[in-house]
Amino acid sequence: MTEHEIHRGLAGIYADSTAISRVDPDSNSLLYRGYPVQQLADTQPFEAVALLLWNGELPTQDELEWLRVNGRPHRPLRDDVRAALDALPPGAHPMDEIRTAVSVIGAREGEGESLHEGGPTREENVARSLRLFAALPAIVAYGQRRRHGLTPVPPREDLTYAQNFLWMTHGELPDPVVVDAFNRSMILYAEHTFNASTFTARVIASTLSDLHSAVVGAIGALKGPLHGGANEMVMHTFDEIGTADAVGPWLDQALAAHRKIMGFGHRVYKHGDSRVPTMRAALGTLVEHYDRPDLLALYEALEREFVERKGIYPNLDFPSGPAYHLMGFDTPTFTPLFVAARVIGWTAHILEQQEHNALIRPLAAYTGAPERQVPGWSAP
Ligand code: SDX
Repeated sequence: MTEHEIHRGLAGIYADSTAISRVDPDSNSLLYRGYPVQQLADTQPFEAVALLLWNGELPTQDELEWLRVNGRPHRPLRDDVRAALDALPPGAHPMDEIRTAVSVIGAREGEGESLHEGGPTREENVARSLRLFAALPAIVAYGQRRRHGLTPVPPREDLTYAQNFLWMTHGELPDPVVVDAFNRSMILYAEHTFNASTFTARVIASTLSDLHSAVVGAIGALKGPLHGGANEMVMHTFDEIGTADAVGPWLDQALAAHRKIMGFGHRVYKHGDSRVPTMRAALGTLVEHYDRPDLLALYEALEREFVERKGIYPNLDFPSGPAYHLMGFDTPTFTPLFVAARVIGWTAHILEQQEHNALIRPLAAYTGAPERQVPGWSAP
């Protein structure tokens, strides 16, 4: 016991302010720099949302050109990154691959520079964030293709971010339906205030460590199945259940075993995740495009049964898992896709932390043994 008021998991605690996004469970809404995320997903390429989150405003044509000119040349997989990935065991998880790759990029890019006053300027860190943003798709695509014994597909500078990501993964120009669904998923995954991985990035940035170290730490946090790793687990759940008519018996067993059903629930949203309707609609276009009504039947049966029994609603990972499956990504690749999107939110928060920094260091209420002397010790 302790006389201090403990907030386990920091639930409901405001640790700092942010101007980047707002999650409002009462209105069930998410704003990026004041814009409803649904409107951004309907109208913007992911690159424009990246510039919005970094700089605070939707970009001008000149700013989009800056991103194209300064980002796209960094799409190719660099030799040192490829060598590091090839040095990993063949069965390494794609999240371990992308975490390792960012470490290599940081070692090369940052020369160990920290975020301290004499370190890189904000502009330099936006440029570094852009180079990292541009480099991640090749890393994800390389890992998937290597696991299938396929050679890497060189990036194309004439393609948008979403088109190029799918091109590098599958080696063919993607259908506009798939590009639109992928672009929407990236925008929806890009930012979500002080979620566990973003807060991890801010803790690391608050010590004036470097940008890439903060991103590596955030990747480690996102990997967990209570957070980003859930989208991969959703697909494992679908594979385990098999068909819509098996949902009831499966849930009976899962709930009897007190299992967490991946893709459901949220620490902040308690009446549904504001992003789900947009991603669910994108999933619907993919189900039609690939003629997979069976997958949608399973999705709807699990959602209906679990909401009826527990009153806990889907989060973004629930529609994203089957959507990425239909887009042809391997299940273990799903969370690296989340990384590729959330790197925008992480770097925006790292930049914001840098602007009005305070070392993040909470207190701990001691509940251990009362003070006692070491046997045999005597005062000098
Ligand atoms: C993301 O924070 C963010 O913004 C995250 C994110 C982002 O964009 O960054 O939105 C991305 O991480 C989404 C969440 C992905 N995780 C999952 O889908 C994993 C399954 N979900 C649960 O583990 C859970 O819902 C959490 C961790 C997401 C939130 O849990 P909380 O707020 O800590 O609440 P809790 O775990 O204490 O649950 C309260 C009750 C518990 O029952 P009791 O033990 O009190 O009887 O609800 C139950 C839980 O067991 N519950 C679930 C459940 N979620 C909550 N039971 C079964 N399955 C679930 N999914």
